[in-house]
Amino acid sequence: MTAYWQEHSVEATVEEMMLDDDAQKIHELERDEILAMLPPLEGSRVLELAAGLGRFTGHIADAGAAAVVAVEFMPKFCEANAASSAGRPHVSVLCQDVTTLEQPVASHDLVFSNWLLMYLSDAEVSQLASDALRWLAPGGSLFFRESCFRQSGNTKRSFNPTHYRVPEAYTALFGGTTYGGFGFELVRSQSVQTYIEHKDNPGQICWLFTKTAHPVKLLAAPTPPAPVAGSIVSCGNVYVMNMQYGAGAYAARDIAAGEMVEQGIVRRLTNCDGNENPYVFTWSDDIPNTTWALGSGCATFYNTASEEEANTHMVRFFAEDRFEIHATKDIKEGDELLHVYKSKQWRTCFSDLAAQDE
Ligand SMILES: C[S@@+](CC[C@H](N)C(=O)[O-])C[C@H]1O[C@@H](n2cnc3c(N)ncnc32)[C@H](O)[C@@H]1O
Repeated sequence: MTAYWQEHSVEATVEEMMLDDDAQKIHELERDEILAMLPPLEGSRVLELAAGLGRFTGHIADAGAAAVVAVEFMPKFCEANAASSAGRPHVSVLCQDVTTLEQPVASHDLVFSNWLLMYLSDAEVSQLASDALRWLAPGGSLFFRESCFRQSGNTKRSFNPTHYRVPEAYTALFGGTTYGGFGFELVRSQSVQTYIEHKDNPGQICWLFTKTAHPVKLLAAPTPPAPVAGSIVSCGNVYVMNMQYGAGAYAARDIAAGEMVEQGIVRRLTNCDGNENPYVFTWSDDIPNTTWALGSGCATFYNTASEEEANTHMVRFFAEDRFEIHATKDIKEGDELLHVYKSKQWRTCFSDLAAQDE
């Protein structure tokens, strides 16, 4: 795709970049329509991907954005955008391929792109969807506009590697993207009216998504099946969900104080040092301990808390290699299940947690 854009960025004109002889007129007609689809920009941190000459960059910057990072991989387009952004200190132009871009987690309120994904492979679109979700702050927005079904411009091309996908492909891919307990919720998807009116082309389509908490239930079903008599592992009251900072265990129903939340078995491990590995259970009362075990069900995913905050307690039956976890308080469906890690103060892998208690 780099070769394609090298061929179409020689003069760095808007006609070349939009691949259309009528580009200037179309640009003026559609610009406000596109900008009107964006969420309020006042004070927001914006990441613009494939910014080209910057025909949206300046307008986004002037609409109250606190910071705009405009990414584009053709040097001539970047130079032109940087030149026209010179009087806007809150705009920075990064000359880089978006497929290798790295940005801090939750560092933007809007990720904006206009005609980018059609120049990426399916795998690259998928990767970019996860990246955008990661880079957005919770509640942030993702806007993109693509040519679907067919090309939009009238420029003759010696070769055309563009992917004119069907709109459902983008809706499904972004709608199914998750990261750290968050996903994309579709706010709207609509055709660009300018292209319908002036080019009889309804295939210029825009999407606006927001980043919202999106539970991913990994293990147990939310409606627990009745425990089977005699079962030695039962964890149907619990589900495990990916949250922003890793997995956690949650109550699948209301559980009264004193009730058994989960029971299970362990298998003792050889060649494993639980001082280093946080996912194994301390399987003796010795300090220092040398016996470590792997627990069944959801037990591994309960996070730790102080005595006051904890709502469960794990009873370990070392001789029988089994455990029971009981509710120490009334627990509501959806509450996170927390217990005090018995080894928090001395296992190397929990030193950060122990430091938080001090
Ligand atoms: C049709 S132009 C659109 C430019 C601008 N978004 C606009 O609407 O005016 C597509 C732009 O995507 C850029 N582009 C394509 N693939 C890219 C990539 N992997 N990384 C960065 N920029 C890319 C091209 O260089 C080009 O500037």
